[in-house]
Amino acid sequence: MEIISVNGIDLAYARHGRGTPLVLLHGFPLDHTAWKEVAPFLENDFNLFLPDLRGFGQSTAIETSYSISDMADDIAGLLDHLRVEKAVVVGHSMGGYVALAFARNYPQRVLGLGLISSQAAADTPEGKERRYKIAAEVAEQGVMVVAESMTPKLSSDVRVRAFVRRIIERQNISAVIGALKAMAGREDLLAHLSTANFPVVLVHGDADMLIPIERANEIKAALPSAQMVEISGAGHMPMMEFPSKTARGLSLLADRL
Ligand code: MLT
Repeated sequence: MEIISVNGIDLAYARHGRGTPLVLLHGFPLDHTAWKEVAPFLENDFNLFLPDLRGFGQSTAIETSYSISDMADDIAGLLDHLRVEKAVVVGHSMGGYVALAFARNYPQRVLGLGLISSQAAADTPEGKERRYKIAAEVAEQGVMVVAESMTPKLSSDVRVRAFVRRIIERQNISAVIGALKAMAGREDLLAHLSTANFPVVLVHGDADMLIPIERANEIKAALPSAQMVEISGAGHMPMMEFPSKTARGLSLLADRL
């Protein structure tokens, strides 16, 4: 991995492939290895950049609070470093929140947007409260709290659950807490997304227990030009459960550039 200094942190990223620049933003509380299975299906068409979001993987964690928008600014810093003016930006779940914030902050840099198992809506007041409660538990008991509670809801595929659990277990407590608070504070970007003038693809499993497919349908209703790729039988991790179908969905973005 390569590491750059941006916005006061060390940001690590991997790169593979050739073609149109495509940034893949992982979900919570994971790192760039979440893309391991899908990357080989994309690297013939895209120049892939796979950062570890702030605090995760090999990127440094910071103790002060930050927002999803700050995480999006880290990605702009990465693209500046790479001298990439415009890219396709794809995010899984929390990575989708970062991708949406990037598209809001830097619309002129977005060639296309892909949201996998994500949503544009903000947290409900109860959802925010739940995140703060989990953050307090993580501070006391460590990341195992999240590994235990999240893993069974990610997928019905035991291989995927085991793989994701190993990723979660190696994450830094401060990153997990920081991201929980950042997600709780994120804005509702549905209305903003509905004005998008770049292609949008929504990839969602019909068996997602964490972010139900209704959230993606909501985006499709607000932005009829978005292409919806529903993956039958997929849970929250389609890029691991059905990597070739997920890649095919994302490749629709390449067709529309
Ligand atoms: C994720 O997978 O990134 C999280 O489930 C997103 C969330 O908790 O909202």
